[in-house]
Amino acid sequence: MAPEPEDELNEKNPRPLDEDDIALLKTYGLGPYSTSIKKTEKEIKEMAKKVNDLCGIKESDTGLAAPSQWDLVSDKQMMQEEQPLQVARCTKIINPNTEDAKYVINVKQIAKFVVGLGDKVSPTDIEEGMRVGVDRNKYQIQIPLPPKIDPSVTMMTVEEKPDVTYNDVGGCKEQIEKMREVVELPMLHPEKFVKLGIDPPKGVLCYGPPGTGKTLLARAVANRTDACFIRVIGSELVQKYVGEGARMVRELFQMARSKKACIVFFDEVDAIGGARFDDGVGGDNEVQRTMLEIVNQLDGFDARGNIKVLMATNRPDTLDPALLRPGRLDRKVEFGLPDLESRTQIFKIHTRTMNCERDIRFELLARLCPNSTGADIRSVCTEAGMYAIRARRKTVTEKDFLDAVNKVIKGYQKFSATPKYMVYN
Ligand SMILES: Nc1ncnc2c1ncn2[C@@H]1O[C@H](COP(=O)(O)OP(=O)(O)OP(=O)(O)O)[C@@H](O)[C@H]1O
Ligand SMILES: [Mg+2]
Repeated sequence: MAPEPEDELNEKNPRPLDEDDIALLKTYGLGPYSTSIKKTEKEIKEMAKKVNDLCGIKESDTGLAAPSQWDLVSDKQMMQEEQPLQVARCTKIINPNTEDAKYVINVKQIAKFVVGLGDKVSPTDIEEGMRVGVDRNKYQIQIPLPPKIDPSVTMMTVEEKPDVTYNDVGGCKEQIEKMREVVELPMLHPEKFVKLGIDPPKGVLCYGPPGTGKTLLARAVANRTDACFIRVIGSELVQKYVGEGARMVRELFQMARSKKACIVFFDEVDAIGGARFDDGVGGDNEVQRTMLEIVNQLDGFDARGNIKVLMATNRPDTLDPALLRPGRLDRKVEFGLPDLESRTQIFKIHTRTMNCERDIRFELLARLCPNSTGADIRSVCTEAGMYAIRARRKTVTEKDFLDAVNKVIKGYQKFSATPKYMVYN
């Protein structure tokens, strides 16, 4: 209410508010129909309660209607009528992003159809080239499907983390450092690479004689990372039919790309990565084609996202140079024979769970095993345990270890392939 001019004079003792004024003040802040809306709402609620009372419905915790109102027969019929869907591929979208968008689908070995969308799919779900599920009557698109990936490829994902940690790897400090730099740094601090304007390294090749801990370290990486870890053994990619191996590689990387971050580990890559050669017969080699597909995927014609590739082999010299060139596998990490300190550490790692005599001189034992690998040392520990079992003792003594060293390191020397492999490295 705008003050009237004569009211300004007697501001000290203003006119007391009468009832009309108060009623008007109360309407401040309310919408025009607030009171009537409120009244109607109340009435509706009362009416609903009355109806429910008459029907005998009570509110239940489960949200289900009262059993008297169930119609199981027709429910069952409805369930039966829901037909299995057919898999098709959406090859083209006509008039996309408009009301009357139509979809060309290709049902394999039947025909092509132009169809619309079902009720449950939104137009944004469907893209060109996607696999979709269509019903059998009107061939309407009912659900989008994920890309087709060979089940044997899906199986390669490591679901349970291996129980090996970096603590279980003796020595190999430098190798662990190099590996973590490539695998963990770009995933944890991508901004560092962006700032410098370089692409992070794509992959690591681990090479070295058998039993030096290449697979072990990869397992430790898998344990530490939250990224999806895919493990492929080279020979798994060698298939019976032409082109199958290459297709598996493609699907493998397709699966890897669909993850937020992913590490692909090719173990024993020399099974497929051998250098190309002419076999003289004129036929080209299927294995080489698989390898070339890996090369292609490593180059990443489509952006590879956060995929890191690890490879392990004993014979880096037999690998195709194309696979190893910088830009594909930038890092090459050699796993050499462990030095004295590392050997001592490996002894300690493998005897951690064993029931040993106290103060065994591990350094002496390590000194007695020159030029031996981690696998050799593990074998020494196992043999020492065997000696103790044979003597019906509950603890392993230092003498057992010394005997085991004699047996494994000296006795099995002629089986050792380590010197042969060291030549190439
Ligand atoms: N540095 C190490 N620390 C602890 N244990 C090791 C180490 N190196 C090897 N070992 C032991 O040797 C075993 C074999 O090692 P691993 O499987 O890693 O060999 P590899 O290098 O993959 O050999 P290959 O080239 O034949 O596949 C491991 O299970 C582990 O017990
Ligand atoms: Mg291995």
